[in-house]
Amino acid sequence: MFNSLQQQPADKILALMQVYKEDPRENKIDLGVGVYKDASGQTPIMQSIKRAEHMLWETQDTKSYVGLTGTPEFSETMIDLVLGDKFDKNLTASAATPGGTGAVRQAFELGKLANPNLRVFVSDPTWPNHLSILKYLGIPVEPYRYFDAKTRAVDFSSMMTDLENAKEGDLILLHGCCHNPTGANLKAPEWDAVIELLLKSGATPMIDIAYQGFGDGLEEDASGVRKLVNSVPETIIAASCSKNFGIYRERTGLLIVVSHDKDARDLNQSTLAFLNRQNFSFPPDHGARLVTMVLSDEELKRSWMEELEAVRTSMLSLRTQLATELEKLSGSNRFGFLADHRGMFSRLGASPEQVNELRENHAVYMVGDSRLNIAGLNSKTVPVLAKAIVDCGI
Ligand code: LMR
Repeated sequence: MFNSLQQQPADKILALMQVYKEDPRENKIDLGVGVYKDASGQTPIMQSIKRAEHMLWETQDTKSYVGLTGTPEFSETMIDLVLGDKFDKNLTASAATPGGTGAVRQAFELGKLANPNLRVFVSDPTWPNHLSILKYLGIPVEPYRYFDAKTRAVDFSSMMTDLENAKEGDLILLHGCCHNPTGANLKAPEWDAVIELLLKSGATPMIDIAYQGFGDGLEEDASGVRKLVNSVPETIIAASCSKNFGIYRERTGLLIVVSHDKDARDLNQSTLAFLNRQNFSFPPDHGARLVTMVLSDEELKRSWMEELEAVRTSMLSLRTQLATELEKLSGSNRFGFLADHRGMFSRLGASPEQVNELRENHAVYMVGDSRLNIAGLNSKTVPVLAKAIVDCGI
């Protein structure tokens, strides 16, 4: 039976991880997969998480099942984090999921359950796995223009023109902050204009927020989402704890459905439980429990916020260093956008050939669309990368 299987397309980001691993060159630089690395190239466990893990080991006395949608405490602390602690939780249904990707997948399934003719509007470009999951689920994709290849900023007027085609029953997928793969983000007035468009069209926003705290700060990165949920009737949010808590392999995420119709809450909640049961039954608990402990203990939370802030500012500093070095070497400020972008990623704007040349001749690994992970750099590799970029004529 299995010899009828067709080879499935490899995920470009994960395939690159493998090629990097197999490269024997000692001076290789990994700017591929979106994982934070410190100056020594390690992805450390945050101290706050380590301490929570220790406490959990000492106090946990059962590994029996929790609930189909995880614990209420995880939902509550995460909703406070994403939507602010003033947000009325009676308006929310939520379910713990295996990572942010699990939440994205459940969100699409929820959309399809609500509307069998669902279309999802996605930014061009977006995280490749959004497209891959949508294709797998047979959900039509409507790309909207997003990135101006010349300025490397958001092409907002084209985005709005394309979103004019959205109507009630469609989902519009937006990145809450730190757009993946471009690093170019909506400004406050642009969020306002998107909200107006949503109200006019009746389309439902879906926010993927996987990097809260990596851009301008924990509160600042959530400001667009917060304004949106207070303005439109319904919103779906897929939140990830992988990056901001550094617990990638623990697979910790939360799907939140906000509805201003209070009567809808129970039905939304039971539908999320049903979807979890069909797909994987109970969500993973370990990471969710650590996050709950960190967010509900004043001292652990303070320590986590400090660690996260150090991660954020180190990436900002690398951005400035790289932009400055490139200005020096290229004699122009055409790479200034690197300092303006936010989050882990920037799209450099190199051709696929130049991306290959960077890999083959300079042992620099970035994703084929020239997305680079800023956190893969350190102060020693910044000048090496800048020289390689200029040498490749980018
Ligand atoms: C990325 O974009 O590199 C990360 O979100 C990791 C992944 O799963 O692709």
